[in-house]
Amino acid sequence: MKTYLSGIQPSGRQHLGNYFGAIRRHIALQEAEGEKFYFIADYHALTTVQDPDVLREMVLEMAVTYLALGLDPERVTLFRQSDIPEVCELTWLLSCVTGTGLLERAHSYKDKLAHGIRTSVGLFTYPILMASDILAYDSDLVPVGKDQKQHVEMAQDMAGYFNNTYGEVFVRPEPLIPEDELFAKVPGVDGQKMSKSYGNAIWIFEEGKPLQKIVGKLVTDSRPPEEPKDASELLPFRFLELFCDAAELADWRERLARGGADAPGYGHLKMRVKEAMDEHFHAARVRRRELLADRGEIERILARGAETARARAVATRDRALRACGLRPRSS
Ligand code: ADP
Ligand code: TRP
Repeated sequence: MKTYLSGIQPSGRQHLGNYFGAIRRHIALQEAEGEKFYFIADYHALTTVQDPDVLREMVLEMAVTYLALGLDPERVTLFRQSDIPEVCELTWLLSCVTGTGLLERAHSYKDKLAHGIRTSVGLFTYPILMASDILAYDSDLVPVGKDQKQHVEMAQDMAGYFNNTYGEVFVRPEPLIPEDELFAKVPGVDGQKMSKSYGNAIWIFEEGKPLQKIVGKLVTDSRPPEEPKDASELLPFRFLELFCDAAELADWRERLARGGADAPGYGHLKMRVKEAMDEHFHAARVRRRELLADRGEIERILARGAETARARAVATRDRALRACGLRPRSS
């Protein structure tokens, strides 16, 4: 039986790019055969977030987002990274077999240096903590976006260094990168890639007037409705492609291409985008409100997840300690 593991950076409110590019895929994987471990990477978040209230809110928001959108804690072990202190111990053990050269080659670290961002030791050793996360649960498959592929490869390298030094302790993980490009780059309201740092994002749980307002901002040109148009060039249509079925899309495409007096205008397309989002996220919005009204339930889910995850991590930590000549603590 395969073990899947992924870490989720707590980064506040999530947008449609996060949903189609990452969250939806994570949730769909709960149908796959095997064990699934997902955690909220709050230790990693400390490399960028240093306000305790903000961090607590971000962790909560992430747990609520996944649960509201359908993550089933009966099928996926959902937990907080920092509830598993064994990953910090493994980080030390892996640090001692890992050359600094490997870390110096990390793209994410090099990018930060190139942008003149002050780097901490934590940021430099980020890939070792990530390798510990992966190796602690004997993970076979690590679903991540392309940007994290190198980090998973570094975890493979570190498992290899350790196993070569001390014998077979860690399972070699493989990254699982999405193949379909359709949802890899969801555009923002300005047509550029949607990102929270570009101010062009639509939040997953936006609704009512604020949603109408932001959808109204989808960039279009000033051509009149009767002019025939290629649907795939229209930003509102690209949003409809995210939500609507093939038959409906074909109908819009055909009416837009035909043009004339009864052709839809941009306002019609935008109205349908809002409506489609309302339909798609209705149940999730309701569930989100319920969860936010019962934070104790979220804590219980995370605590139960941590208990399951920790049993695995303790066993791996002890195996690693024994291999190094240190005393395992749980037996
Ligand atoms: P942001 O760019 O808003 O800061 P993050 O870097 O926090 O987003 O991304 C979190 C996850 O969401 C990553 O897996 C990333 O690949 C995915 N993602 C972010 N923006 C988009 C987008 N516009 N289209 C598809 N996936 C996206
Ligand atoms: N670094 C990952 C990201 O930024 C989050 C993460 C932390 C992770 N530990 C992990 C992903 C282990 C996969 C496996 O998205």
